[in-house]
Amino acid sequence: MKLADRVNRIKPSPTLAIDAKAKALRAQGVDVIGFGAGEPDFDTPVAIREAAKNAIDAGFTRYMPVGGSEDLKDAIIAKMKRDHGLEYTREEVCVSCGAKHSLYNISQALIQAGDEVIIPAPYWVSYPDQVVLAGGTPVFIETDEKSVFKITPEQLEKAITPRTKALILNSPCNPTGTSYTVEELRAIGQVCLKYDFMIISDDIYERLIYDGLVFKNIAQVLPELKPRVAVVNGVSKTYAMTGWRIGYVCADKELIAAITKMQSQSTSSASSVAQKAAVEAISGSQEPVADMVKEFEKRRAYIVSRLNAMPGVTCFTSTGAFYVFPNFSSVYGKSFNGKVISNSTEFADYLLEEVRVALVPGVAFGGDKYARLSYAVSMENIAEGMDRIEEAIKNLQ
Ligand SMILES: Cc1ncc(COP(=O)(O)O)c(C=O)c1O
Repeated sequence: MKLADRVNRIKPSPTLAIDAKAKALRAQGVDVIGFGAGEPDFDTPVAIREAAKNAIDAGFTRYMPVGGSEDLKDAIIAKMKRDHGLEYTREEVCVSCGAKHSLYNISQALIQAGDEVIIPAPYWVSYPDQVVLAGGTPVFIETDEKSVFKITPEQLEKAITPRTKALILNSPCNPTGTSYTVEELRAIGQVCLKYDFMIISDDIYERLIYDGLVFKNIAQVLPELKPRVAVVNGVSKTYAMTGWRIGYVCADKELIAAITKMQSQSTSSASSVAQKAAVEAISGSQEPVADMVKEFEKRRAYIVSRLNAMPGVTCFTSTGAFYVFPNFSSVYGKSFNGKVISNSTEFADYLLEEVRVALVPGVAFGGDKYARLSYAVSMENIAEGMDRIEEAIKNLQ
């Protein structure tokens, strides 16, 4: 079969692939500790599940308006005002089938051949591929532990060209777990103000933030930028609702109209039942979120201290999301049974084969010295996984 060229321009999501590999091994009875998951290991809170059940019984089982039901749009509008002081109307909100879908829609509505999109690296795996699918060119700004995985205004200014169409910001960040402060966002925003490109603010981890840090996005920090900011968010991570597939974008009404038009010819509305559940998630009690954050904070402290205690491994204390991004590059060049490990993929393969630990090689995120471990994993499994990695590193020559 002759498939369209665009299929060959992208790769399948490596994070989903690793997770699937670990799950498949587990299904065969192999005792794998999986650090690959990009989703909370908690159940969706009861009140949200109840709202979905009620929605089914009340007959909310039909097509919804393409860009989202009015009650969900209103809940999102109220949330944006309550949490961020940002005002939107229904014409400035579009609900989609997950934040990934919202991001896809934005890139399809905005980007075409010749356009450049600036992406800080390490980055979430789907950003570059979505840009490529839309015909654009990703332009990476490299960061590392020294800069706490954050771009500087100077780096941004250097990356901007007349072709720059958008900048993607993701704070707290997947995979590094870094978060920008208000001052840092202001400095980046000051650079953006001098030019005319969109800022895509992926706020999906906004509530999973630690050490007393307060989340703000760039539109809050510099309200002059708001007309050029597309805020992307969703219920997946905050409310343990990854399978429900509800995400949304708040932006200028011209962009929202374009996204809604495209959605009318692709997915139509997101699931009616999941939309009702999302209304409860966003408007109801936020207590389950606070409990989840407390548990993640405990696990983060433990996993970071265990990793930093391993010879040659350095791990920055992430401030958000549920990932750590340790630097394992000191093991590159070492070998096991004569086989040399020279990059993050070979290290991940070695761990899976020899000690049955699954993690995502950093190369998937544009950072080959590192690997991503999710601590959306029970404390018991984190402890066992750390023991295994420690042993695996000791066994290298
Ligand atoms: C940074 C980031 N953005 C967006 C998403 C997509 O979330 P969803 O499509 O489940 O709403 C993810 C999920 O892994 C993510 O890590």
